[in-house]
Amino acid sequence: MSLKGKTAIVTGYGGIGYEVALALASLGAAVIVAGRDREKGEAAALKIAGECAGAEVAFEPLDLFDPSSIRRFADRMIASRGRIDMVLCIAGLMMPESLELNRAGVERQFAVNYLGHYELVGRLMPLLSGAPDRRVVTVSSIANRPARFDLEDATAARGYDASISYALSKLCCLMYAVELNRRFPDVTACCVHPGLARTMLFGRSRGFAMGLLRAIFFVFPFIRQSARAAARPALYAATSPDAVGGAYYGPMFTFMGPSRRALMPMRAKNAGLRAQLWELSERLTGVNYG
Ligand SMILES: NC(=O)c1ccc[n+]([C@@H]2O[C@H](COP(=O)([O-])OP(=O)(O)OC[C@H]3O[C@@H](n4cnc5c(N)ncnc54)[C@H](OP(=O)(O)O)[C@@H]3O)[C@@H](O)[C@H]2O)c1
Repeated sequence: MSLKGKTAIVTGYGGIGYEVALALASLGAAVIVAGRDREKGEAAALKIAGECAGAEVAFEPLDLFDPSSIRRFADRMIASRGRIDMVLCIAGLMMPESLELNRAGVERQFAVNYLGHYELVGRLMPLLSGAPDRRVVTVSSIANRPARFDLEDATAARGYDASISYALSKLCCLMYAVELNRRFPDVTACCVHPGLARTMLFGRSRGFAMGLLRAIFFVFPFIRQSARAAARPALYAATSPDAVGGAYYGPMFTFMGPSRRALMPMRAKNAGLRAQLWELSERLTGVNYG
């Protein structure tokens, strides 16, 4: 497969984001690696360019926790690019040390994992609409069934539980892809989950449960797959002619394996809940997809 002539934006240059960007560049796509740390981002872009002769790879600063950074990123893209073919919303974090709200009052995991990507894609819609085969890929998780579904948790208005906020943000990534595809059927919007991958995600998470999980990973390292293998569902959704808009893909054996359709939680199939999420996202970001 050749992606020559196509341009992809990949958020996050961490474990899975790096592998996705590398694979897209190796297929000939021009890749914009978007992230919040210039030093890490430029190093990732340089490394990818070094591994793929002739690849066009550039870093662009983007902090998904900061709406003004998202707006500036989109403005730069609109000023410098005629069209974007795919946006891969990979960046994320899980269970940080403490509750943090951004200037819009949105909790960090909800803001970075989900809402920042909603705003990013919304602002990039004019560029996506110029592409004949436009794709948007979001990343969920096997942990996408929050103990309660309460959109108030987006702003931690009724208290804060880091694991519920993570699960809610990951469920919203899935609900969003389904709803984006329903509202804009000409955008192939898919959601994926990577199973369990050996990346920095768990190392940066806090809390007793995460400590226990890290101990389990130490004793049984084989229950996690490499970041490269974990990137496969996202690559499938972004590039396969067989990828279906609104579908959910993940590894065949839940934690690992080749990509296939994954089981969608009932809440993601609920049109009423998806409409609620869309309305909240419009309200919190001020971005209307039109
Ligand atoms: N690893 C797994 O087993 C697993 C399982 C299920 C789902 N996932 C999902 O897969 C995705 C990728 O995670 P990973 O495993 O590759 O983790 P990772 O290695 O920790 O990478 C996460 C990336 O997100 C970036 N990021 C964090 N906050 C950001 C912000 N405010 N603005 C822009 N970028 C930001 C990080 O950049 P910095 O280094 O600058 O912080 C990093 O590049 C995440 O959405 C995660 O929820 C992973």
